[in-house]
Amino acid sequence: MTNAIVQFHILDQLGTPMIPYVAAWRDDGLDIWYEFAGHKLRALLGSGQGDLAQAFRESLISRCMYRKLGSPPAIIKVVRDRQQLRHLRAALRSMAQQGETVEAVYRLDAHGEPMWFKDFARVEAFEEDGLFLSFGTLADISKEVMLEEELKQAKQELVSHRDQLTVTVAHRTRKLRQAQLEVVTRLAQAAACRDQRTASHLNRMSRYSKLLARAAGIGDHAATVLFHAAPLHDVGKLGITDLILHKPGRLTEEEFAVMKGHCRLGADLLDGQGSDLLRVAQAVALTHHERWDGSGYPTGLAGGDIPLAGRIAAICDVFDALTEERPYKPAWTFAQAAEEIKRQRGCHFDPELVDLFLGNLPALYRIYRGQAC
Ligand SMILES: [Fe+2]
Ligand SMILES: [Fe+2]
Repeated sequence: MTNAIVQFHILDQLGTPMIPYVAAWRDDGLDIWYEFAGHKLRALLGSGQGDLAQAFRESLISRCMYRKLGSPPAIIKVVRDRQQLRHLRAALRSMAQQGETVEAVYRLDAHGEPMWFKDFARVEAFEEDGLFLSFGTLADISKEVMLEEELKQAKQELVSHRDQLTVTVAHRTRKLRQAQLEVVTRLAQAAACRDQRTASHLNRMSRYSKLLARAAGIGDHAATVLFHAAPLHDVGKLGITDLILHKPGRLTEEEFAVMKGHCRLGADLLDGQGSDLLRVAQAVALTHHERWDGSGYPTGLAGGDIPLAGRIAAICDVFDALTEERPYKPAWTFAQAAEEIKRQRGCHFDPELVDLFLGNLPALYRIYRGQAC
């Protein structure tokens, strides 16, 4: 033992950052004392000539150990605070006696500043004296631990910022969508107003469109997009001259050609790298006058070449227009309008959509009557 203390003393005098120590205890008591301790330990704990072991206990904030547990073994971090350690002292000493080596990290209060020391010790038993000696070194790892703590805190702040950012982006996206919807709705109303159509026409035909889309197996989100896009079908009429748009009598061939231009005008108006809503609205604006048999306008698309949104909007727009009173015709009854849709099956309209439309007349009737569905 004396040799070891001499060697530790030399090590201490070398000015190494390690603090060597030799701690001792008897197997019949709880008291521990230092046979030797590097001078830095006493200076750090400010124990003067007092009991160093006592000063160490009073400065101790926590003790951390890593243990292999479970199968397959996982490394578990076990942290005990000062209060817990007071009760566990005997048990920990017994574990050290059995394990022979001890590796732990102590957090100490050194003059009000937290410091961390890694302790690596080998325990030897001197049975004839009933004595146990722990030959160890304490390494100051405060800088490493504090850097690790700062890194952990920075990571937490980063996660917190990211979460906050996600919430903010979601909130702003929602606001942006609402604003876009507002603008689009007013644009549709402006076009309807100029065309002397009613807001209720837009309201009903968009609800018919959503219902038919759902019946055709379109998901709720996409059907809702169509619900908002459908009222824009005639937005291109904003670009048609009043002389033609509000002409009381029949349009000449040339005037009708100009009127047909509202499809492309609307599509151009809604063109751009916009949202789903604008893309669907553009498709509806461009193709709501195409016919299943290819005799429609502006392109003469036929059958499945006509976008589904355009085929749905075509049925719903015509159906609602028939049930509305116009300067040149009285309002058709619900049944008469449904009969006309049936009559145009495979000519003007997609036959499958017509079947779905006619298969959902009760729900369509509730919309027609202004009831919620
Ligand atoms: Fe139109
Ligand atoms: Fe319309």
